Amino acid sequence: MKKLNRRKFLKLSGLAAGTSLLAACAPKNAAPASTAMPGMAMGAAPTAAPSANFAPDLEIALKATSGAAQILPGKPTNVWRYAANVVKGDPGAVVTLPETYTGPIIRAKKGQKVRVTFTNDLPAGQPSIVHWHGLIVPQAADGHPMYQIDAGKTYVYEFEVGNRAGTYWFHPHTHGKTGLQVNKGLAGLFIVSDPEQDALALPSGEFDLPLVIQDRTFDADNQFVYDVQNMSGMNHDMGSMNMNAMMQGMMGFLGDRILVNGKPDFALSASTRAYRLRLLNGSNSRIYKLAWSDGTPITVLGVDGGLLDKPISKKYVMLAPAQRAEIWLDLSGRKVGDEITLESLAFETGETGGMMMGGGSAPALGQPMRILKVKVDKQSAETLKLPDKLTALTPLQTSEAGNAAAPRQFKLTLNGMTWLINNRQFEMDKAAADEVVNLGATEIWEFSNEKNPGAMMDANGMAHPIHMHGVQFNVLSREVLPDLKPIRDTVMDGIVDEGWRDTVLVMPGEKVRVIVRFTMPGRFLYHCHNLEHEDQGMMRNFDVKPLSA
Ligand code: C2O
Ligand code: CU
Ligand code: CU
Repeated sequence: MKKLNRRKFLKLSGLAAGTSLLAACAPKNAAPASTAMPGMAMGAAPTAAPSANFAPDLEIALKATSGAAQILPGKPTNVWRYAANVVKGDPGAVVTLPETYTGPIIRAKKGQKVRVTFTNDLPAGQPSIVHWHGLIVPQAADGHPMYQIDAGKTYVYEFEVGNRAGTYWFHPHTHGKTGLQVNKGLAGLFIVSDPEQDALALPSGEFDLPLVIQDRTFDADNQFVYDVQNMSGMNHDMGSMNMNAMMQGMMGFLGDRILVNGKPDFALSASTRAYRLRLLNGSNSRIYKLAWSDGTPITVLGVDGGLLDKPISKKYVMLAPAQRAEIWLDLSGRKVGDEITLESLAFETGETGGMMMGGGSAPALGQPMRILKVKVDKQSAETLKLPDKLTALTPLQTSEAGNAAAPRQFKLTLNGMTWLINNRQFEMDKAAADEVVNLGATEIWEFSNEKNPGAMMDANGMAHPIHMHGVQFNVLSREVLPDLKPIRDTVMDGIVDEGWRDTVLVMPGEKVRVIVRFTMPGRFLYHCHNLEHEDQGMMRNFDVKPLSA
């Protein structure tokens, strides 16, 4: 893949070195991102102190802190990581992965009341807040950046686990700094179990394996490189601009190495039996097209919001940032000594700028990469069989949507170097009139990935993984512009639209409709989960308004 150098880029963009990019980059129609202090929305007070009338079944002390991890041979890598311990309840509810920065894994049961006391022990200048991705929790427990706390401060979360069994996760949601903080290592899993799932004969214990997939770049000193310049709404002096940082600020961070659970060249030493692998794409922006190297289909058990009604078999599976895929890996027919690799296959992205520029040394989005290796090295007598039925799902139906005749529209566009939703950027303390829904309403939301005629780069748009807080939804339909269909079709067979989702991949030229019921009142976020897009403002609030209000 050819990369443009700075001079070629300047020529392409019609700018001379030293020229201010202000004219080209400032969003023309975008509302400015608010710098005002966050107001209290919807009357929900932030939980600053534990409340007397909340009796937790599980109480956890969670800290975001600096440390070092032995990732590569030689010098340890400076990281930021979460550390947790159980204050009250099952001591097994927090599992710390040894010698890595990812994690911990919090294990909770549906219906449990959870209190998490979060302490920000990051360096000064790094406010933070924890978001429980995929969980449907009250506004004050959802980790909106309006609640971010400075280093040295504490924030108390209290919520009941209402979600069904599934693989959820948590990460920082700091204003403009989510990408950096996740990249430095802050991400953990929140695994929910429930009696229905416990009754299924699925692999458990060490055979039920969470695998967090991330890409990273290291410098010669084994340190993470996060070379990203936020390109929104600033006066960019091209003369002093670092091209790679600018591109990654606009397109998303891409690393040149894959880490799994924080480890390079991850190899799973496995037995001849079935495994349940819980895959999370914890990357800032990289999308994976996952396939087994020997052509074995991927058996999908579940997605973001838990199990599917029955397992489905795919040649490959697309996993966009923040998405989860639970897969069944049956090694019972294998021999000790066999090896199988999980790979990310090549696909088209439609990017006109990114394809050429990539991210410095890193493979461009859509380039093949190796994810992990499974080495069969132990014999097992276990003979678990893949169940043909997992659960009964009742997805929402179009007929239940109050706005079925006129779905709510969200246009994803590029203005200058800034990605927008309905021509707007994030505003901390505002939701527009068309971003207010009624509590209990069922609606269709349509995300439309528009072309950007005349855009300096990426006239076709980019793939955007769109995420909504405070809900799980079902995907109803996908349409694609005829001329971008060939690009979209390089991923289509790996799209899993079955089941409950909180994040949906919207490819260039696609219109994706989701159906969603709003069951939690308050102010929540929806945004692109390409973390650099999110940080530069491809995020908005929506309000779920109680009917009495
Ligand atoms: Cu995992 Cu608002 O995101
Ligand atoms: Cu989320
Ligand atoms: Cu995006």
